[in-house]
Amino acid sequence: MTDVTHLSKPVAFPQSRTCPYHPPAAYDPLRADRPLARVTLYDGRPVWLVSGHAAARSLLADPRLSSDRNRPGFPMTTARFAALRRDRRPILLGVDDPEHHVQRRMLVPSFTLKRAAELRPRIRRVVDERLDAMIEQGPPAELVGAFALPVPSMVICELLGVPYADHEFFEEQSRRLLRGRTAEEMEDARDRFMEYIEELVDRKQKERGTGVLDDLVHEQLASGALDRTEVALLALILLVAGHETTANMISLGTFTLLRHPERLAELRSDPSLVPAAVDELLRLLSIADGMLRVATEDIEVDGTVIRAGDGVVFGTSVINRDEDVYAEPDSLDWHRPARHHVAFGFGIHQCLGQNLARAELEIALPALFERLPGLRLAVPAEDIPFKDGETIQGMLELPVTW
Ligand code: HEM
Repeated sequence: MTDVTHLSKPVAFPQSRTCPYHPPAAYDPLRADRPLARVTLYDGRPVWLVSGHAAARSLLADPRLSSDRNRPGFPMTTARFAALRRDRRPILLGVDDPEHHVQRRMLVPSFTLKRAAELRPRIRRVVDERLDAMIEQGPPAELVGAFALPVPSMVICELLGVPYADHEFFEEQSRRLLRGRTAEEMEDARDRFMEYIEELVDRKQKERGTGVLDDLVHEQLASGALDRTEVALLALILLVAGHETTANMISLGTFTLLRHPERLAELRSDPSLVPAAVDELLRLLSIADGMLRVATEDIEVDGTVIRAGDGVVFGTSVINRDEDVYAEPDSLDWHRPARHHVAFGFGIHQCLGQNLARAELEIALPALFERLPGLRLAVPAEDIPFKDGETIQGMLELPVTW
C-alpha cells in the first residue's frame, strides 16, 4: 500500500447496520475519505474501500481489478468465506474477461429489457396469487415467507425451468450457502445444490423444456461450449442471485416505505413515480453492500496508488451516498435523479438480472400497498430482525397486519 497518512484510521469491514436502511454509523469516517478509504478485514488485513461515486464507476470498469477469488490478495470478508475449498471452479461473477465475456454472452438474450417486459404480465399474476393467498388467510402475516421470497422465487424458477415445487430445498440451501455458520455448512449446501441441479440437467437432456437452463443444456452443453459442471454452476448462480436479492429488496423496501408514511402516501397517489421510487430505494438501501476485487497492476486514483495485489472493496452504501452526486443522500427522495447509483454494480459484472429485478419491484411493491391499503408493521420496528452486515441486507422476518 502507498502512503495513507492523510486518511482516517481504518474501520472494520463489514459491520452490521443498526438501522436496516442506513449504513452502519461506524462507516461515517469512510464518507469523509473520498474517493478511497481504508478498512480492515476480519483478520486485521488492511484493504482499500472505494467510497467515491466517480472513482467507483471508473474502477468497476477497470480491467486491472480482478474478480477472481483464487488470486492472491483477494479480499476475504469473513473467516468462513476464506476457509472455503480452493477447488471451486469460479464462474461468471468470479472470472475476468475474456472468459467472463464468453459466459455472459450466452445469458444476455434471456435478461434483456424486452424479455423483462414480456414477463411483466406473468409477474403480476404471481404477485396477485400471493396477495390473494394472504388476504384469504387474513391478518397478521409474515411478509418475507408469504410474499417477498415466493414472488422472485417463482419468477426465477419459471424463467430458468426449475420446478418451484422444490423451492423449500433450494431456498434452504441458498440460505446455508450465503449465511451458513461455518465453511463446512456452506460447502455442504453447495454440494447438495450442485447435485440437485446436475440431476435436473440430466433430466433436461432427455426432455427439453422452455427455460434458460433448457437452452443452456441443448445449446451450450450440446455444442461443447460448456461442460455439465459449468452449466450447473451457471444455473446455481442464477437461481441464488435471482431470488435472494430481490426478496431482500421487497422486504426491506416495504419496511422502509412503512417507516416513511408521507413518501408512501405520495407514491400511492401517483403511480407514475414508481420507477423513480424503485431506483431511489435501490440507492438508499444498497443491499449488496460490498463488491470485492483485487488489483492485478498498480492503479493511480487521484494521486493515491492502489498497488498490485491490494484488496479493493466497493462500499456500495457509502458510494451511493456521495454528497457530490446526491444532495441530502441519507433521505428517501425519488424526485432526485438516482439512476446512476451502483446498487447493481457497474462495468462488466453489472447485474445481469437488473431488468428483471426492476420489473419485479415495480410490480410487487405498488400491488402490495394497493391490495392491502391498511398495511402496517405488526410489532414495534425495533423488534424486527434483519440480516447482519456479512451478507446481502434484508429483513429476516417482517410481521405485518392490515
Ligand atoms: C434488487 C435485486 C438485485 C440486486 C441489488 C443485485 C445486485 C447485484 C450486484 C451489485 C452485482 C455485481 C456484483 C459485483 O460486481 O461484484 C450483481 C451481479 C449479478 N446479478 Fe444481481 N442483483 C439483483 C437481482 C438479480 C436478479 C433477479 C438476478 C437474476 C438472475 C441477478 C443475477 C446476477 C448475476 C448473474 C450477476 C453476475 C453478473 C456477471 O458477473 O456478469 N441479480 N447483482
